[in-house]
Amino acid sequence: MLLAPTHENLLRVVEHLRQGHLAAIPTETVYGLAADAMNPEAIKKIYQLKNRPASNPLIVHIAHAEQLHDWAENIPEITWALAEAFWPGPLTLVLPKKAHIPDIVTGGQNTVALRIPSHPIALEILKLFKGGLAAPSANPYTRISPTTALHVASYFSEDLWIVDGGPTTVGIESTIVACQQDKLILLRQGMISGAQLHEATSLPIITQSEGIKAPGQAALHYAPLKPLQIVDTSLIEEACQKDHTPIIGLIHYSNFISLPKHWQAQQLTLSPEVYAKNLYQLLHQLEASNCEMIWIEAPPHETAYEAIYDRLGRAAN
Ligand code: TXA
Ligand code: MG
Repeated sequence: MLLAPTHENLLRVVEHLRQGHLAAIPTETVYGLAADAMNPEAIKKIYQLKNRPASNPLIVHIAHAEQLHDWAENIPEITWALAEAFWPGPLTLVLPKKAHIPDIVTGGQNTVALRIPSHPIALEILKLFKGGLAAPSANPYTRISPTTALHVASYFSEDLWIVDGGPTTVGIESTIVACQQDKLILLRQGMISGAQLHEATSLPIITQSEGIKAPGQAALHYAPLKPLQIVDTSLIEEACQKDHTPIIGLIHYSNFISLPKHWQAQQLTLSPEVYAKNLYQLLHQLEASNCEMIWIEAPPHETAYEAIYDRLGRAAN
């Protein structure tokens, strides 16, 4: 059931969540499947609905940085600098957890992942709810993350309440970082880059995590149902010259003189933000189209495209 984000509806959604039900809500990254993080029965429904392995922990969403004290302990000083610099926004911080947090939220780990989303509707829901909302991306396990309310609706039954906040603006999942006294461990790439994290903290950014795990990032996780390849511009040019080609769903930025008429081509402006914002949306579209395979013109191998390459690499696997 799609709900317009009126104040009245948001109050209903908050009440629904308080009663232990699920609701899909927009965030600036992707839509989340939310439940009361302190209610193990409600959290169980998330895992069931997503068909998600229990070892794969959830992110707890909060409205204010001071709420970190409700969820984490032994908080390294640098956490506050990160919160100041990037919250609300697409950054998730992994911190030592408080004992009262249900194990089902943290996948039995001794840490908890926390984030303040910047989407105004998510923030309003969190402020009205007051507590924490555990919310993974609102897709069945292994399917593409949703960036519109309709993507969520296409995955689940009519019973699920979905707050329609329009298309998400960032488009790929948050950057995940484990905060330690002397270093930051980058557990998942996102649109907030390692370089930005370093600039804000002067700490070394480690990508190889020893001991700390961010489970649930299996290659399969981001894969569309059709074969997907990252292809060089020259290969696309060559294919354009051929008489017979399969129906290719193409995401590209270069101008090609004559793309085969039967291809499903989508041109994007070449920028990391535009790629991130549109990638999942176009994959959803191509997955539903009659194309036989998906080609993505390889964006430049520059650090600004690291998070995009991370998702493309998983999708192509
Ligand atoms: O942008 C996002 O982060 C979105 C929106 C809805 O906020 N959420 C999202 O959640 O992507 P999900 O469940 O699809 O991915 C969360 C990932 C898990 O797969 C896991 O790798 C990591 O967060 N994670 C959660 N808790 C953790 C912990 N205690 N330690 C390490 N990694 C953790
Ligand atoms: Mg996910």
